[in-house]
Amino acid sequence: AEAPVDEVIAALAVDVPDFPTPGVLFRDLTPVFADGPAFRRIVEGLASPALEDPRAAAVAHADDGVPGDPGFDVVVGVEARGFLLAAAVALHAGVGVVPVRKAGKLPRERVAADYALEYGTASIEMHTDSLHPGQRVLLVDDVLATGGTLAASVALVEELGAVVTAVSVVVELAALGGRDRLAPHAVHALWTT
Ligand code: PRP
Repeated sequence: AEAPVDEVIAALAVDVPDFPTPGVLFRDLTPVFADGPAFRRIVEGLASPALEDPRAAAVAHADDGVPGDPGFDVVVGVEARGFLLAAAVALHAGVGVVPVRKAGKLPRERVAADYALEYGTASIEMHTDSLHPGQRVLLVDDVLATGGTLAASVALVEELGAVVTAVSVVVELAALGGRDRLAPHAVHALWTT
């Protein structure tokens, strides 16, 4: 039998103490992404929040009965590590991919949201015409920590009138409370630690 996806991730992720600052335990996922079978499991898992998360299923199955409907119309990925995942998830599901970028990268009319860093704030942006009102969005990133980045991303998606049907992450650092911060949106984490 196949190992559970959380065990696959935990076995390949590398813990790095005191990175990027003393006292922080960094969960390095690059070895997980570099492993072909593990990457496939991750992509399939991220793309299937409705199958594994009953809270997501309630929303994502609004179009029940439409054959082949993955429950979302587009994948939104968060710079930079989220890009590695979002494009693969979109291809797997047969939909397009839209970036949430760090400030100053997008050339056309855009919306912006600020979020807190440990020291100071940062800003992320989306093109104003990158989503349409009512479009169903699967939001993807690698790590849910404090939830600041994904909460700001949700705000941008909703400012454009689109609907977040689920948030999928590879790793949820549960002690940091990101899931609560994103409520009532469902968070689908492949590994909670
Ligand atoms: C990391 C990670 C998430 C975010 C999680 O990105 O990839 O996007 O932090 O933290 P939070 O839940 O506390 O907001 P980072 O800002 O380091 O950018 P990068 O992907 O470009 O390295």
